[in-house]
Amino acid sequence: MVKRSKSSDRWLQRQRKDQFVRQAQGGGQISRAHFKLEQLDQRYKLVKPNLHVLELGAAPGGWTNYLEERLAGGLLIAIDPLPITSGDKTHVIEGFAGEPEVDDEIERILAGQKLDLVLSDMAPNISGVRAVDQARSMELADISLDSCHRWMNQRGAMAIKAFQGEGLDAWVKDLKKVFKKVHMTKPKASRSESREVFVVAIDFSPNKAPAD
Ligand SMILES: C[S@@+](CC[C@H](N)C(=O)[O-])C[C@H]1O[C@@H](n2cnc3c(N)ncnc32)[C@H](O)[C@@H]1O
Repeated sequence: MVKRSKSSDRWLQRQRKDQFVRQAQGGGQISRAHFKLEQLDQRYKLVKPNLHVLELGAAPGGWTNYLEERLAGGLLIAIDPLPITSGDKTHVIEGFAGEPEVDDEIERILAGQKLDLVLSDMAPNISGVRAVDQARSMELADISLDSCHRWMNQRGAMAIKAFQGEGLDAWVKDLKKVFKKVHMTKPKASRSESREVFVVAIDFSPNKAPAD
C-alpha cells in the first residue's frame, strides 16, 4: 500500500470536510473555485450575456464553465499553461499570461474588439518564502491590470485574486485612479485560513482624475 505523508493526509481530511468541495462533487462543478466566482458575481453583477471576457488562470475550468453557462453569444478567452475543460466556443490559449506570444494570440482573437471583463484566479507556484510568493502574486495582479489598459472598454470591470501582504494596499490605491469603484472582498468559498482576497474594480475610466 502507498504510504501517504502527514501533509497529504491533512489535505485529504480538509477536502472531505470542506462544504464547497462536497458541493462541487455533488453538483458536477469542475472545481470548488466555481463558488468563488458565483459569489463574486452575485454580489457585484459581473457576468452578463454577450460580454467579451478574458479569463486568466483558468485551469481546470470551474470559472470557465460558470462563464460559458452565462455569456450566451459573448466572447470568452481562457488562458492557462495547464489543461482547461471548456466548451467548443471558448478560445483557449495554452500558455502564461503576460508572455508576448500569448498577447499576440489575444490580439488575433479580439481582432480589434474590446473586453468588458478581465477575470483572474491566477496563483503563483508557492515557494514557501513569503516575500517571494507575495512579489510574484503582485506581478500577476500587474499582468491583469495591463490587460485592462491594452484591451478593455471604458466602463469595463476586473475581478482578480490577490494575496494580502506587502504591496497590495498601495496597488489597490493606484487602481482607484483608473477604476471608479474598487472593492476588496473575501467570498465565503475562499478558505478562511488563506491570505487570498479578491479585488473587484468596476467602471474602467483610465483618464479619470487622480484618487489622492
Ligand atoms: C486556482 S487555479 C485556477 C482555478 C480556476 N479558476 C477554476 O475555476 O478551475 C490557478 C491557476 O493559475 C494558473 N496560472 C498561474 N500563473 C499563470 C499565468 N502567468 N498565466 C496563466 N495562468 C497562470 C495556474 O496554472 C493554475 O491553473
